[in-house]
Amino acid sequence: MLTTAYDEVAYPTHAFAQTHPDRLASHATLFGLPYAEAATCRVLDIGAGDGSNLIPMAATHPRAHFVGFDLSQEAVKRGVAMIDALGLENVSLVVGDIMTADFGVGSFDYIISHGVYSWVPEPVREGLLRSIQRHLAPNGVAFVSYNAMPGGRIRQALRDRLLFAVRDVNGAAARAEAARRQLLVLIDGFAQDDPFQVLLLIEARRLYERGASVLAHDELGETFFPVHFHEFDGHAKQHGLQFLTGAEAARCGEGFAPPYALSDPNFDVLAHVQELDFRDLRFFRQDLVIHDSVAVSRIPQANRLLAMHVSSGATRNDSGAFQVGASQIEVTDAVLASALETIVRARPTTIPVSSVVSDHEHAAALLRMYWVGAVDLHAEPSTFPKVSGDRPAASPFARLQAARGQTLLTTLNHGMVEVKDTFSLNFIAGLDGSRTRAEIARDLAPKLGGSLEAVAVQIDKQLDILAGMPLLVG
Ligand SMILES: C[S@@+](CC[C@H](N)C(=O)[O-])C[C@H]1O[C@@H](n2cnc3c(N)ncnc32)[C@H](O)[C@@H]1O
Repeated sequence: MLTTAYDEVAYPTHAFAQTHPDRLASHATLFGLPYAEAATCRVLDIGAGDGSNLIPMAATHPRAHFVGFDLSQEAVKRGVAMIDALGLENVSLVVGDIMTADFGVGSFDYIISHGVYSWVPEPVREGLLRSIQRHLAPNGVAFVSYNAMPGGRIRQALRDRLLFAVRDVNGAAARAEAARRQLLVLIDGFAQDDPFQVLLLIEARRLYERGASVLAHDELGETFFPVHFHEFDGHAKQHGLQFLTGAEAARCGEGFAPPYALSDPNFDVLAHVQELDFRDLRFFRQDLVIHDSVAVSRIPQANRLLAMHVSSGATRNDSGAFQVGASQIEVTDAVLASALETIVRARPTTIPVSSVVSDHEHAAALLRMYWVGAVDLHAEPSTFPKVSGDRPAASPFARLQAARGQTLLTTLNHGMVEVKDTFSLNFIAGLDGSRTRAEIARDLAPKLGGSLEAVAVQIDKQLDILAGMPLLVG
């Protein structure tokens, strides 16, 4: 039986929001392209690992159809166990090789290949793009991530150093542990006053934090092949595919001409993308590709937002300003401020864009807010509730994760949330929709202490927090 390094050291696959059909459909919409609705679409994940990205999509879209394949038998076995535990019939995960797997021409609306292109040998890279070209529906959108240049050179410098340090160590797991120990030595030794060494120091810290199981494959794997954007784009073209835009919200603007070039018909948008990568020392790219035969206009049209839906992870901070992560958002325009207020109040559910803005100017402003991460745009409305009902139920996938003691849980909008304490994990795992709030309070009162009323209040608060993540389906 063929085993791979991924059988020896399990790769920690998880949900990537930027690969979700809703994201791919949203970016297609912003380019005025037709798209398949996430609710009923067909998705292929190439090199799906254990399916931890694909399976939660299948769990939240019961009428859509999901297929994933991977060379690693161990990874597929773990994924199949999850699918069985959840009783899902709309997703299959199989052992398969990129070079030979065949599901029929144009059989998928969305194709995901995360973390594969730069980590497989040249014939498999060819096979990957060939597979995407073959399987992608005429109006389909594919996601491909890869290590990019010129930042890849920084990573290459560290990889070379780590490979040298572990040259006499055998086995993927032992090599990764030895490389991590070496990283600590390196981190201690870099000169803080030398800008080049500081660059390596930052990267070394990042690698250390990602853990041994990622390091074993991403940095110490046999193949490590960063490419310039223009090389990837050229490669895609050889396979009848073309770059649409970046998959991340903040990178969606990449595929459009910048404001100063809108009236220049000769402006080369893709050369501009490459220039920006050179400028930013870009080291990782997540690109959306479509069939080369599809006509793409690279002039943004904000009116397209009016058919979309919007949500926001922003909150109000103590001074009343909107806050997303560490950034505070200043909104001076009254219409936009009121729109953001309404969007934030609806959190975590989506609302129609047309319910908060109606003209081109404000739609354009909302688009810019998407590009800076203040709001999220969606092709379709969210399907999870804003508040839980009387018989609260958590997402089955998150319940499974919580029951297994995993602390990173997949949210219903395909993000990740960290829940560290055992009490909360058990609480989530137990939310199967069979008990009323009063029954849950009665069951937990002996553990929590205090009056039944006080416990009930505590549980209501917890449920509000979980609904906001969002983790509750009912
Ligand atoms: C870095 S992992 C990424 C897994 C997952 N997509 C993720 O992003 O977490 C690369 C995956 O590609 C798979 N792979 C490598 N070569 C392959 C091939 N020829 N056919 C199918 N899968 C392959 C590996 O087994 C591994 O699971």
